[in-house]
Amino acid sequence: MNDMQNRVNELHDLLNQYSYEYYVQDNPSVPDSEYDKLLHELIHIEEEHPEYKISDSPTVRVGGEAQSTFEKVSHDTPMLSLGNAFNEEDLRKFDQRIRDNIGKVEYMCELKIDGLAVSLKYQNGRFVQGLTRGDGTTGEDITENLRTIHAIPLKIKEPLNFEVRGEAYMPRQSFMNLNEEKENNGEQPFANPRNAAAGSLRQLDSKLAAKRKLSVFLYSINDFTDFEATTQSGALDELDQLGFKTNHERERVSDIDGVLKYIEKWTAQREKLSYDIDGIVIKVNDLEQQDEMGFTQKSPRWAIAYKFPAEEVVTELLDIELSIGRTGVVTPTAILEPVRVAGTTVSRASLHNEDLIHERDIRIGDSVVIKKAGDIIPEVVKSILDRRPDDAKTYHMPTHCPSCNHELVRIEGEVALRCINPKCQAQLIEGLIHFVSRQAMNIDGLGTKIIQQLYENNLIKDVADIFYLTEDDLLPLDRMGSKKVENLLEAIHKAKSQSLEHLLFGLGIRHLGVKASRVLAEKYETMDRLIEVTEEELVGIHDIGDKLAQSVVTYLDNEDIRALIQKLKDKNVNMTYKGVKTTEIEGHPEFSGKTIVLTGKLEQMTRNEASQWLQMQGAKVTNSVTKSTDLLIAGADAGSKLTKAEKFGTEIWTEDEFAIKQKEINNE
Ligand code: IVH
Repeated sequence: MNDMQNRVNELHDLLNQYSYEYYVQDNPSVPDSEYDKLLHELIHIEEEHPEYKISDSPTVRVGGEAQSTFEKVSHDTPMLSLGNAFNEEDLRKFDQRIRDNIGKVEYMCELKIDGLAVSLKYQNGRFVQGLTRGDGTTGEDITENLRTIHAIPLKIKEPLNFEVRGEAYMPRQSFMNLNEEKENNGEQPFANPRNAAAGSLRQLDSKLAAKRKLSVFLYSINDFTDFEATTQSGALDELDQLGFKTNHERERVSDIDGVLKYIEKWTAQREKLSYDIDGIVIKVNDLEQQDEMGFTQKSPRWAIAYKFPAEEVVTELLDIELSIGRTGVVTPTAILEPVRVAGTTVSRASLHNEDLIHERDIRIGDSVVIKKAGDIIPEVVKSILDRRPDDAKTYHMPTHCPSCNHELVRIEGEVALRCINPKCQAQLIEGLIHFVSRQAMNIDGLGTKIIQQLYENNLIKDVADIFYLTEDDLLPLDRMGSKKVENLLEAIHKAKSQSLEHLLFGLGIRHLGVKASRVLAEKYETMDRLIEVTEEELVGIHDIGDKLAQSVVTYLDNEDIRALIQKLKDKNVNMTYKGVKTTEIEGHPEFSGKTIVLTGKLEQMTRNEASQWLQMQGAKVTNSVTKSTDLLIAGADAGSKLTKAEKFGTEIWTEDEFAIKQKEINNE
């Protein structure tokens, strides 16, 4: 081996070792600067001599090329979820069921990490593929993002082939730093560490994912063939030995009372952890006994998740403000003395509507109990009556909109009050925020604060104005450097080419959600055709109900809206559908109408490419082999799907056979 290769190997070993010490053992042996120095040396070598760069080099920790999509991949075995227990009674029932079936058992208690389930595949001891849970059967390939997580070993000590599963999460400190940065940039902060972790792992640009400091705890091995463990605790110990990060707060207990003690301990101490947990997972420790208990359709019978009750805290209700949504609904919002609940500081909580305030007899000045519904959305549960001050004030909703002063109306059958003035400023701002949001035109960098400033400075009054913004308009705004302006204008420019369904959804037509926007865009293809459409015709479309049909036609019939559409067209905002037509593809007779499954590793194309090409030919590409599957295309190392197809007598092609057919058709 030459000197350069030796040095590269040495750098790999040192960098992997330092990552392990720092991120898995929490016990670094060298300062960060030493790691950075060696990493830069390796980056430099790889730049000068790309032949030394391998896919699992420690330089992948900084991220690589951005991807355009995440490939969908089926799991070797489904990623199931767990049954829930909410109290002692549920837990005792679980224990009874286990003992009725298999007698006395030992339990493993683990913290239930509040993050995202991931599956990591190792081949020959190298990390080769990482997937999200997805729908449990099929996940998304997020390998590049997972490689940036230092706690995930890129290479382990033994050349084993197996899959480990665990929970990726964002430590509280990383979450707080990230949100502070977001707020400084005028961007919407994440609601909690779990959402932040999910958002980070769904970044198509792994360089961005690398900046989000994520970690992982592994909790199970999916294929035990190369392992000696006969218990869950043994399996976790073996994972530790191999260099994986497991959670060390786990405890083996001999009965359900031990489980209850463990729960009590962590209910009291969870706030002290440096990461969020949302419960405790209890597993039968012995693997053979686990097998005996088996699985239901959705979850193992040998494990259960105890969910912590939503945390409740007491604070003071300082005031009630009204917020006006994009559709004019006026919602009373509680302004609270800031208080920490379930991991974040809460200073506002929705009170939903006036009826609820009176039903719960909530008054301004009261001490109130707050909790987070689903641990996410803050909610006022009740007032504490015996702490009510003498001057507590009963609240009455105003009769006029606090933003535009137009009279508020209560629409029949609805509890909500609405401002029906189409020119109401608060509604217009909310509408603008909706227009730029991710599922609509997805204009990055145009946060709430910037929109408010632009609106207040008369620079945008309707959504089309966004496309008329110039550098001179943006530069004078607060916290706007020239680089930010450049990025923002670029994002606005990019949004002009969004496919029609994003524009439709962004316009905020009442009752028109993401799915129906796509249905309409796909069916009518252009805005001009959609404008011509009648209510009767729309009602005839599957997925479009009466209310929606009426709302779309009334909206598009409006003169002001026609003018708005023209104003968008004048700036070359795309008005056509650009997605794949799922309904009207004629395709190629060889594939049209056939149900096809792809499996195994493809070498000449990605699975995504193969799938898209097949769909263009009119085929339906599905994930699992059933009796109605017409064809299985099997790449290398195909597993259970191949066996199943053989059993059903399904036609099977190799990747080569498929590639030859593909070439023939492409050349026709
Ligand atoms: S065991 C068959 N152990 O909780 C599923 N899950 O529904 C086996 N989770 O999404 C899961 N911490 O990702 C297990 N120590 C732990 C866990 C854990 C968090 C998540 C898991 C799953 C959910 C359970």
